Amino acid sequence: MFVRRGRSALYPLHLTVNGTAHDVEVDPRRTLLDLVRETLNLKGPKKGCDHGQCGACTMIVNGRRINSCLSLALTHEGDQVTTVEGLADGQDLHPLQQAFIEKDAFQCGFCTSGQLCSAAALIDEIKEGLPSTVTGDGPVTLTADEIRERMSGNLCRCGAYNNIVEAIDSVAGEQQ
Ligand code: FES
Ligand code: FES
Repeated sequence: MFVRRGRSALYPLHLTVNGTAHDVEVDPRRTLLDLVRETLNLKGPKKGCDHGQCGACTMIVNGRRINSCLSLALTHEGDQVTTVEGLADGQDLHPLQQAFIEKDAFQCGFCTSGQLCSAAALIDEIKEGLPSTVTGDGPVTLTADEIRERMSGNLCRCGAYNNIVEAIDSVAGEQQ
């Protein structure tokens, strides 16, 4: 059932973001990124390119990272969404957030929320043994090449890559 508002139709959507359930009415043309930033007022995910090229908008949906600028909100009925705001546990930072501080992997802050969401999902992918294009034969092992390949969808124009790889390695290595 849709509701007409002026010239556009709005459709009901139920989804959970960072543990909070939301019931909203959504224009079918609205992306998940715009819904989260403008309707739910979570400004952590950024709109960098709006074309799926920079990773600034990365969110974790049902355990998998996506470019939310390319994903229509209405396709996320019933989904569990995590943004950078949902990584910390209250005042306790996520281990990756702590590692980014310790390894000086933060710089402009524009790409960092996407980098953190991507890295969190990356660690789970490696734990599950999901291969990337640089994975050789045998089990997936945590190497700098694996981290770089798996983070290649997240661009950083100021060159913090080395520190980002170090930060992810320090957390993922401990959890392996
Ligand atoms: S804003 Fe989505 S990939 Fe750049
Ligand atoms: S730290 Fe964001 S673009 Fe480099």
